[in-house]
Amino acid sequence: MRVGILGTGEVGKALGKAFVALGHEVKMGSREATNEKALAWAREAGRGASAGTFADAADFGEVIVLATLGAANRSVLEAAGPERLRGKLVIDATNPLDYARGFPPGLSVGHTDSGGEQAQRLLPGAFVVKAFNTVGHAHFFRPDFPGGPPDMFICGDDEGAKERVSGLLDEFGWGTVDLGGIESSRYLEAMCMVWVLHGARSGSWSHAFKLLRK
Ligand SMILES: NC(=O)c1ccc[n+]([C@@H]2O[C@H](COP(=O)([O-])OP(=O)(O)OC[C@H]3O[C@@H](n4cnc5c(N)ncnc54)[C@H](OP(=O)(O)O)[C@@H]3O)[C@@H](O)[C@H]2O)c1
Repeated sequence: MRVGILGTGEVGKALGKAFVALGHEVKMGSREATNEKALAWAREAGRGASAGTFADAADFGEVIVLATLGAANRSVLEAAGPERLRGKLVIDATNPLDYARGFPPGLSVGHTDSGGEQAQRLLPGAFVVKAFNTVGHAHFFRPDFPGGPPDMFICGDDEGAKERVSGLLDEFGWGTVDLGGIESSRYLEAMCMVWVLHGARSGSWSHAFKLLRK
């Protein structure tokens, strides 16, 4: 499979590396084709990894990962080109974090809208699934917790796209909990703050969510 990663931060690098490890081809996109972080990532990731612009990555990928600063999502998706993403699965790992008042950040949108819904509105022909936004990047691939595999909470409007993400999560070493349509991003983006606040208060970032059932 060909994967286009929009974003050169820790999330883009970790997910890109995981997809390469699973034998997929990955192109990391950024504002400039000469972005040093993207080129360095591609060199280090090796066979199957490459770098280009947001538009190059959007063209390349059968599956796209949105992994940019939440506040930049609109300009990133406009640069990627909604027409290039038509009919494709777009995994949205972003959070609309607002650092105007420092740390911990607030959310720039919530209750009545969300970053996930905004991304879906910007990409009317794509299948946006919110995933990977409620845990730190260090645990994305093959998470190792004494309590067993944690659960990734996801949402999106297209059942087939969510099934695909659930299959990928299984390969990554995660259980999946589907919370419904893309509007549930309002709660998943807030849930990111639960993960962050626990980390900040405990001074440890080695935690993940799991839904206990009986
Ligand atoms: N860090 C984590 O562990 C984690 C976990 C789950 C979810 N998330 C979420 O995932 C997203 C990515 O997080 P991150 O920590 O990897 O990186 P980040 O620092 O939040 O974002 C870095 C990416 O955003 C791009 N960017 C920044 N400002 C931009 C602008 N004005 N226009 C276009 N692109 C812009 C950067 O481009 P350049 O390369 O050009 O600088 C880079 O590709 C965020 O929304 C974050 O909330 C993070």
